[in-house]
Amino acid sequence: QASQRIRNFSIIAHIDHGKSTLADRLIEYTGALSKREMEEQVLDSMDLERERGITIKLQAVRLSYQAKDGEVYELNLIDTPGHVDFTYEVSRSLAACEGALLVVDAVQGIEAQTLANVYLALENNLEIIPVINKIDLPSAEPERVQQEIEDVIGLDASDAILASAKVGTGVEEILERIVTMVPPPQGDDDAPLKALIFDSKFDAYKGAISYVRVVEGRVAKGTTMKMMSTGKEFEVTEVGVFTPAMKIVEELKAGQVGFIAASIKNVKDTQVGDTITDAERPAAEPLPGYRKSTPMVFCGLYPVETNDYNRLRDSLEKLHLNDASLVFEPETSAALGFGFRCGFLGLLHMEIIQERLEREYDLNLITTAPSVIYKVKNILGEVLDIDNPANLPPVDQIETIAEPVVKATILVPADFVGPIMELNQEKRGTYLAMDYVSKSRVRLVYELPLSEIVFDYFDELKSRTKGYASLDYELAGYKESDLVKIDVLLNGELVDALSFIVHRSKSYNRGRKLVEKLQGIIPRQMFEIPIQSVIGNRVIARETVRAMRKDVLAKCYGGDISRKRKLLEKQKAGKKRMKQVGNVEIPQDAFMAVLKIE
Ligand code: GTP
Repeated sequence: QASQRIRNFSIIAHIDHGKSTLADRLIEYTGALSKREMEEQVLDSMDLERERGITIKLQAVRLSYQAKDGEVYELNLIDTPGHVDFTYEVSRSLAACEGALLVVDAVQGIEAQTLANVYLALENNLEIIPVINKIDLPSAEPERVQQEIEDVIGLDASDAILASAKVGTGVEEILERIVTMVPPPQGDDDAPLKALIFDSKFDAYKGAISYVRVVEGRVAKGTTMKMMSTGKEFEVTEVGVFTPAMKIVEELKAGQVGFIAASIKNVKDTQVGDTITDAERPAAEPLPGYRKSTPMVFCGLYPVETNDYNRLRDSLEKLHLNDASLVFEPETSAALGFGFRCGFLGLLHMEIIQERLEREYDLNLITTAPSVIYKVKNILGEVLDIDNPANLPPVDQIETIAEPVVKATILVPADFVGPIMELNQEKRGTYLAMDYVSKSRVRLVYELPLSEIVFDYFDELKSRTKGYASLDYELAGYKESDLVKIDVLLNGELVDALSFIVHRSKSYNRGRKLVEKLQGIIPRQMFEIPIQSVIGNRVIARETVRAMRKDVLAKCYGGDISRKRKLLEKQKAGKKRMKQVGNVEIPQDAFMAVLKIE
């Protein structure tokens, strides 16, 4: 029988509603870290995360709390990533818990991510404790938010805890509520081992480490563990808990949260959602809910300097060590040379990886516009997965093309319903549902092509609603669609890295706008450069970058040599992010231009 004094819980919240701040307060209050040791935002440990103010990699921490009933409880707080790209990871860390604090900002109220997370928590049968945060703000409206929680989620919020993670109000009440409301774990210590992996991390000394919740049985050093999805076996070298620093313990048993190290070389062998069992006494079946993480968004990454190719590969491998959901394979582009096609969970994941490559690995990269995976049926009846528009088969060999679609939920003040509907119409959305969350806020549900979301949906949503809308989406399958590929010719030469796939109804417009945009981006050279966009053999738009006036330098020859040097240096710096394609120099912006043309 698992210990009655364990409580496993998560905090679920919309981005910026105060999840990390509250976690810090709980850690501080229970004394896991002294105030001085307490660096700001302990759970968001990566620099990038801190900078962007969002939680990407989930982690766990064990808190020891002496409750008012005089007993000491072991509280395991499991952190969840706060972004739509990582929904599956969120669902697995919630599966490791019995309860969740639902943190809602007292000014903002319920947002799309709040709802999405609540649904995940309900699917996992968690006890939900509503916490209304930021009540210290003058504009806080706790009663309104309380009403929203009741109306939208159907949760009794009459006893919602009013808190301020910033000031520290409500922290003790939250801890007490966790102890009294969240059920203790159920599992049996003596049953065959079942441990749920909710995260994993690569450590240079210990190998790939699994972060687990033991559901049944026990695991200790020396256990031969078996991954139930692959059947692979490893000998356990260490088990431990997070204090939040990793601390080795004798064993982990039913109900507990901790880590398992087994000199595993690759994080691919510690997949989130997988079940670890004991090879000598295996569980009959794995825990439910495992699925392989699948990349949804792809782009090409090319080194600006050809010589950096090997370094780029090594860096991708290093990042992959810690992030099994990042996939990549070598790709050759006629225009850009040797690089990699990389797959990501979503747009944010993509941006993070790109930024880390440039910042931590000091690489200078050309990135092509992101694409989704199209399912193309050719005339032989084969279905091809196309993750690079340049690889789309010629039109006469295509039978059908299907594109991924998502079910998107948008929460917005009622005043903006019109603009949102208009936007979704433009983005080829299908209306599914609409209801009132409160008197003044509306939830809209649409089916939208994922490619339209990748295109510029977030930016449009933000600008058309003054930032008041929030969005959540999940993959809803594939739909056949009338899609065409647009190619771009520069100086008569096809630049494969600029090709993109678009709905026929928009092809003319986007082809036209792209060449206009490129005309502004591609610097003048000594000769005239025609830019054309074409579908098949048909030119749909053309612009020209006029030849450079020869006197750019001549102008500076007034004796002022330093000015001339400055100009040359400026040109050199500008060149860093350029790629020579044929005899035309193309700056990085050009490859992203397709995303910024509406
Ligand atoms: P993600 O990590 O992106 O999920 O965000 P989060 O929900 O963890 O939010 P975070 O804790 O980073 O807080 C967001 C902002 O709100 C920060 O600037 C906090 O200082 C502020 N904040 C958090 N709690 C409170 C509060 O109780 N009162 C006030 N006034 N500000 C708060």
